[in-house]
Amino acid sequence: MKVLVTGAHGMLGKDLCPVLDDCGYDVIECGRSEFDVTDYDAAKKYIERAELVVHCAAYTNVDKAEEDPLNEAVNAKGTENIAKLCAELDIPLVYVSTDYVFDGTKKTPYLPDDSTNPLNAYGLAKLHGEEAVQKYCKKYYITRTSWLYGHHGKNFVETMIALADKPEIRVVNDQTGCPTWTVDLSNAIADLIEEAPEYGIYHLCGGGHTTWYGFAKEIFKLCGLNVNLNPCTTEEFPRPAKRPANSIMDNQGRCRDWKKALKDYIELRIE
Ligand SMILES: NC(=O)c1ccc[n+]([C@@H]2O[C@H](COP(=O)([O-])OP(=O)(O)OC[C@H]3O[C@@H](n4cnc5c(N)ncnc54)[C@H](OP(=O)(O)O)[C@@H]3O)[C@@H](O)[C@H]2O)c1
Repeated sequence: MKVLVTGAHGMLGKDLCPVLDDCGYDVIECGRSEFDVTDYDAAKKYIERAELVVHCAAYTNVDKAEEDPLNEAVNAKGTENIAKLCAELDIPLVYVSTDYVFDGTKKTPYLPDDSTNPLNAYGLAKLHGEEAVQKYCKKYYITRTSWLYGHHGKNFVETMIALADKPEIRVVNDQTGCPTWTVDLSNAIADLIEEAPEYGIYHLCGGGHTTWYGFAKEIFKLCGLNVNLNPCTTEEFPRPAKRPANSIMDNQGRCRDWKKALKDYIELRIE
């Protein structure tokens, strides 16, 4: 089967393409140099060759998204283009979405059918993307993920390790979520394509949960780094975009525990 991946040269795409290749799919890797997702006609020329699309391309700078119209153009309009094309060709679409579609007020883990209410512009544009997928496509998997890290992009794990020699590191301890390794997400997406369960929304994030502070503590423990790490509140560390306090999603057993994944990531990094 010919599987087209958008955002193929991003942090997730770079791990996903080899995983799909290993599963025996004929992978069509598309980055921005192949086509810009906001250009319907350019996208059409490539998507016509596919039998399934995994749409990973996105505007991912959450803080800049508050003011940048490209956020809505890429994440909402770009996703609408991909959804319309998949619908016209009657091929399945896997759309990678985010925990930031939720407002974080729920006291228990979010389920796929829970109501959405994004707190920031990035979450809103990604939700508009989800709505376009549901409006145009019958054959779709919306896969929400969270707190991604991987070997091929800027991410929290690498940021923490780079800061390790500072006299003190303060990390927010009142936002809880599910760290997810891009390799685990790639395997979970490949499993979804292989198993072909009912079309709909799936939560593909690391199992268990922690705060950003707890995540940082585990990173330094696994790296054997002795760091002066202290917890702080979101109020003490203001950012342009609001984040949900609770981002925990129930992954229904589709990814392993976040700590096991982080251990493998760190070991591979050190080798
Ligand atoms: N990172 C996270 O913590 C996180 C959390 C939840 C969900 N997600 C979702 O997971 C997916 C993958 O994220 P990631 O971390 O791998 O992001 P990433 O590293 O920023 O990769 C996104 C890719 O999309 C491409 N892209 C951006 N605008 C485009 C356009 N107009 N046309 C074509 N390609 C375009 C980028 O290309 P350029 O490099 O050329 O700009 C980049 O390669 C995204 O859908 C994101 O919303 C991420």
